Amino acid sequence: MKILGIETSCDETAAAIVEDGVKILSNVTATSAGIHARTGGVIPEEAARKQIKAVIPIIDLSLKDASLKPRDLDAVAVTVGPGLIGSLLVGVETSKTLSYIWNKPIIPVNHLVGHIYANWLEKIRTPEFPALALVVSGGHTDLVLMKGHGKIEWLGGTRDDAAGEAFDKTARLLGFSYPGGPALSNAADEFIYRNKNFKLTMFPRPIINEKNFDWSFSGLKTAVLYKVGYLLSENYNSKKFSKLSDYQKTSTHPKMKKLSSRIAAEVQEAIVDSLVTKTLRAVRIFKPKTLLLAGGVAANRRLREKFLLEENAYKLSGIFHVPSVSLCTDNAAYISSCAFFNFKPISWKKVVANPGLTITPYI
Ligand code: KG4
Ligand code: ZN
Repeated sequence: MKILGIETSCDETAAAIVEDGVKILSNVTATSAGIHARTGGVIPEEAARKQIKAVIPIIDLSLKDASLKPRDLDAVAVTVGPGLIGSLLVGVETSKTLSYIWNKPIIPVNHLVGHIYANWLEKIRTPEFPALALVVSGGHTDLVLMKGHGKIEWLGGTRDDAAGEAFDKTARLLGFSYPGGPALSNAADEFIYRNKNFKLTMFPRPIINEKNFDWSFSGLKTAVLYKVGYLLSENYNSKKFSKLSDYQKTSTHPKMKKLSSRIAAEVQEAIVDSLVTKTLRAVRIFKPKTLLLAGGVAANRRLREKFLLEENAYKLSGIFHVPSVSLCTDNAAYISSCAFFNFKPISWKKVVANPGLTITPYI
């Protein structure tokens, strides 16, 4: 079965064709991130306008890359939420129209559940159930237990900022360019490479010892704000550190240039440590056959490394699955895959965008 997937939940416009949920025939993604770099974050209106222009050419390209015609497709799948309403509407309305004129079934897909299916696109191993999945994206952080396809139980998540948001917002404070997560992570890795065995304990790991599966990342921003102010206090009047823009100026300060990669490494370690510790707690309790990492933050090198190290340390050999880096961030291949394994077509008239959708109840 060949499914065309369409994904437009944030600033990407993506289309992919996947066969039987595992074989990628094409996977095309366009992004308007370059435009948002100028303002330091996504402007929803701007993103949606770009998506309106890009969506048909991107779908055409996905058919061309797969050497297929619309008549060769078995179904259309589309992200219905969560995400930005204007962006979601572009994908949803386009898919409904195509489903109607091509006379193909349409399957609505939850973006967060979709992320998990990037793990089925890897040719090496098929994930087994029960699986524990950690979904870490720009707007969400959720830990779920999957007893089968479509059988998802929510265990916990962030109480405030998402892990990706914690990367992006602290990156902004340190003056890294948008999108901050990868930039902060590169600077952090450079510091780690140059300072092996350096103990990275500058920032707190809130609620890490609580017996739940929740996280809290919003305090990290305040901790970074205070630390930067303190570290530069010899040269800066502390009263000047009252606005975000005051901190952003620090990135050009000579002292800060040296320090920013150290702080980046500290921030990264605090986030990674929190994510891994709580997830391993769930592994010990639920004893899943598979541990799946998913979402844009799954592209983080240190997070992938720490899970692998823990897998070895706890003799959990083979339990840990993580998609290749290019499949972690937003794309449409995992949307097609998710639709194949959860094949529940509905009438195109009933497909609606839902920006506030959560990972459960499952769609
Ligand atoms: O899943 P995703 O592509 O989009 C959403 O659904 O939100 O995730 C984007 C998030 C952003 O916060 C981005 O900074 C973060 O993933 N991210 C990273 C890395 N690559 C992407 N965070 C840390 N290290 C990375 N290498
Ligand atoms: Zn995403």
